[in-house]
Amino acid sequence: MFSTMELTFLGHACVLLSGKKSVLIDPFIPEGELPEDVDLVAVTHGHADHLGEAVRLHRPTVAINEVAKYLAEQGVPAEGMNHGGAITLDGVLFRMTHAIHSSWIEEAGPGYNGGGAAGFVIGMEGVSVYHAGDTALFSDMKLIGELYHPDVALLPIGGRFTMAPEEAMIAARFIGAPLVIPIHYNTWPKIRQDPGPFKAALEKTTDIRVEILRPGDTISIP
Ligand code: NI
Ligand code: MN
Repeated sequence: MFSTMELTFLGHACVLLSGKKSVLIDPFIPEGELPEDVDLVAVTHGHADHLGEAVRLHRPTVAINEVAKYLAEQGVPAEGMNHGGAITLDGVLFRMTHAIHSSWIEEAGPGYNGGGAAGFVIGMEGVSVYHAGDTALFSDMKLIGELYHPDVALLPIGGRFTMAPEEAMIAARFIGAPLVIPIHYNTWPKIRQDPGPFKAALEKTTDIRVEILRPGDTISIP
């Protein structure tokens, strides 16, 4: 099945996928307003720069069990799942992948366990998008490529809290998606990175294309 999906980078790790449904991943942006025309939300982990405005948006929201339980307590129609599992909501397939990162639901206060951190492979309109969440490089990214063949990989490159470009170069090779979009950088000084050399090096040494998107940019996939 061939069709297209639109992908809009809203800033930081926040991405909107628009096909037959609108799916908002990690609904946090440092400034401006999130779109209201959203059917489904996916949250990779409990940190404030990912959980973001999930409670206010109040949409069906996919998250790891502990985050989903917290959201349900706030009245959000949340769907819990866990690493390695899948759920289909409104015809949109969500697979939850590993991420090597911590998780704590900051807005719930100290001691509130956020479960683990995750990534997602989201399938809609015959297109598959991998959003890695916040993560270190891990070699099982090869399995994500082998099993789910994502058309796009959204990879953090900011360093300090996640992979930096050096590790994301290897992640991109492991995953093998034909298109890579760097995320989770330049939001704050602590995660300052120049994505230019990352793009140049990856495109020079592989067949992978790198799209550097500014907040608000939309591209069609594939
Ligand atoms: Ni985080
Ligand atoms: Mn983060």
